[in-house]
Amino acid sequence: MTTPTIELKPSAHPLSDAEREAILANPGFGRHFTDHMVTIRWTEGRGWHDGQLVPYAPISLDPATTVLHYAQEIFEGLKAYRRPDGSVATFRPEKNALRFQASSRRLAMPELPVETFIEACDVLVRQDKAWVPAHGGEESLYLRPFMIATEVGLGVKPANEYLFLVIASPAGAYFPGGVKPVSIWASEDRVRAVPGGMGDAKTGGNYAASLLAQAEAAAEGCDQVCYLDAVEHKWVEELGGMNLYFVYGDKIVTPSLSGSILEGVTRDSLLTVARDLGHEAEEARVSIDQWQRDAENGTLTEVFACGTAAVITPVGTVKRAGAEWKQSGGEPGEVTLKLRQALLDIQRGVTEDRHGWMHEL
Ligand code: COI
Repeated sequence: MTTPTIELKPSAHPLSDAEREAILANPGFGRHFTDHMVTIRWTEGRGWHDGQLVPYAPISLDPATTVLHYAQEIFEGLKAYRRPDGSVATFRPEKNALRFQASSRRLAMPELPVETFIEACDVLVRQDKAWVPAHGGEESLYLRPFMIATEVGLGVKPANEYLFLVIASPAGAYFPGGVKPVSIWASEDRVRAVPGGMGDAKTGGNYAASLLAQAEAAAEGCDQVCYLDAVEHKWVEELGGMNLYFVYGDKIVTPSLSGSILEGVTRDSLLTVARDLGHEAEEARVSIDQWQRDAENGTLTEVFACGTAAVITPVGTVKRAGAEWKQSGGEPGEVTLKLRQALLDIQRGVTEDRHGWMHEL
């Protein structure tokens, strides 16, 4: 694999300090983008080339470009945090780089070297460092690396040209309510991914497939849809954009990787953080019937969703066809909040980074 260098071509007209500060005062999620982006091309026979940091701008694509028809696309999400001393660090970028490679393999795309993925994120964060929100709040800078097939033509085959990009967006809470518990609709007929499919790849198609079920969840008065497995319609998988954790007193349990669940970086990190805090943490199959039964008999004390964008968000209400129940009285649970704080403290540089997760810039 070739490792291209990234040429710096910064913007002559970045946003003014006042304009940027106005955005940072209330960034929302995914609504505003920084002054620059990184682009790297891949061409068959040539490999990776033409790495550049350029002003953030629209990209021009021929209407017959492969990605627009056959959705050969993958993406990642990771965050850069401001630390108490003003420095900036990203959280576990290597994990995202490796998952990006795994997604590439599943979508028959070329693999970007891990060091190039990390360098592309670093170059962008260094250039747009002023966009990393101040230490102390919930905000961070969300990085969105992605890759699209750019060959022009309507033949159904892996493309012979690709474009990798990294863009960045200052981010507040993913859910407008912050740590306010979300409500979940457990869909017993729609499925997110099938065995042998691409549920464990981070590709736009999985998110497109989730939109109708998400709309149905909203029609049920819920914030998010929870998917069950595609074969038995019984085993809890994930929320589509987030993984799930079940809290049984001192023990936390997350659905084991089934091949159709996305292996979240936050999900993985929490197994370790929970054990560091003295909890038992395990991966296991959890059925929707078990979820309802254990919530109703009180052994299941809390449930929370986790992901890069959502961090850790408590689940308050769960609804399925014919039943509805509350988790921890509809309030954020104690273990949920403790784990959330412990993870955020590592990410924001407040506590010791015992596992070498933070990547300093
Ligand atoms: C993330 O947490 O980074 C996600 O990918 C979830 C969503 C915003 C697509």
